[in-house]
Amino acid sequence: MFLLGKGGVGRSTLAATLGLLAARQGRRTIVVEVSGRGDVPRLFAAKARTGVESELAPGLWTLDVDPRQALEEYLHDQLPLRVIADLLGSSTTFGIVAAATPGLREMLTIGKIWELSQPKRRVRGAAPYDVVVVDAPATGHGLALLDAPRTFASAAAVGPIARQGRRIAATLRDRSLTALVAVATPERAAVDELIGLRRALGGSLDAEIVNGVAAARFSAADAAALRDAGERPALAPETRHALAAAIAAESRSRAQRRQLARLDAPLELPLILARELGLRELEQLADALAAAA
Ligand SMILES: Nc1ncnc2c1ncn2[C@@H]1O[C@H](COP(=O)(O)OP(=O)(O)OP(=O)(O)O)[C@@H](O)[C@H]1O
Ligand SMILES: [Mg+2]
Repeated sequence: MFLLGKGGVGRSTLAATLGLLAARQGRRTIVVEVSGRGDVPRLFAAKARTGVESELAPGLWTLDVDPRQALEEYLHDQLPLRVIADLLGSSTTFGIVAAATPGLREMLTIGKIWELSQPKRRVRGAAPYDVVVVDAPATGHGLALLDAPRTFASAAAVGPIARQGRRIAATLRDRSLTALVAVATPERAAVDELIGLRRALGGSLDAEIVNGVAAARFSAADAAALRDAGERPALAPETRHALAAAIAAESRSRAQRRQLARLDAPLELPLILARELGLRELEQLADALAAAA
């Protein structure tokens, strides 16, 4: 499952939330990041370790993919001579080859993501995951990640890379194996990007989630009454401030509703008021998602 969307809309938070939901259902689950930032482990107050599969909660794991390490694993699996694999996977060679091969990082990253779900893992002794939730990079880079296997397969045409590229591309295309979920906030730019994603993917999105929706606290009648009251002269300063705050909140909520109306009944997740999100807030979002879905 891939979470796509504009930067900052909550992809990492929702990847962790969806991971939590899947693990709750007893499925061995991993949330994959590609940012190198460790945003997912931070939500669980866990230490981030790039390239290491680590357990965050019962049945829930996380991995921040390191493309160079993915290349090493791949080479050791494919090449019988360790010394050649080591040489090809060395950091200098990797830097040179990656710079000269557009899309190589994406291909290695998606190859690693695919590997996590394979019955026979490349990593010795590792068990496959039932569910892989990918906190994909923001919009365009997320699409490039999904497109890499197809691009590589057509560039290589024959041989093991083409074969592997085609296998991964087929898994990504298969809507019974791979789900594409777009995330937005109820803001114009984020909704624009979601609609753009929908178009770019040819309508193959499995779900649309709008995250950070503020609770609508006012009815239409309340809103009209607020605006009338705001226009009354000679209000006490405290009353004027309170009214101004209420009117601002109401117009924000109206603007959010306008953005939500541009989409076709997306799943809505609430804005959570907390200084920093943690496990408790993720549980809250997981409950909201389970109720909405
Ligand atoms: N439902 C929510 N309620 C309140 N805050 C939220 C909610 N969802 C996400 N946030 C906060 O919004 C910020 C952005 O969230 P997150 O890091 O998940 O977004 P992202 O799309 O992964 O961002 P980036 O593009 O930087 O990777 C974080 O501070 C997060 O705690
Ligand atoms: Mg993120």
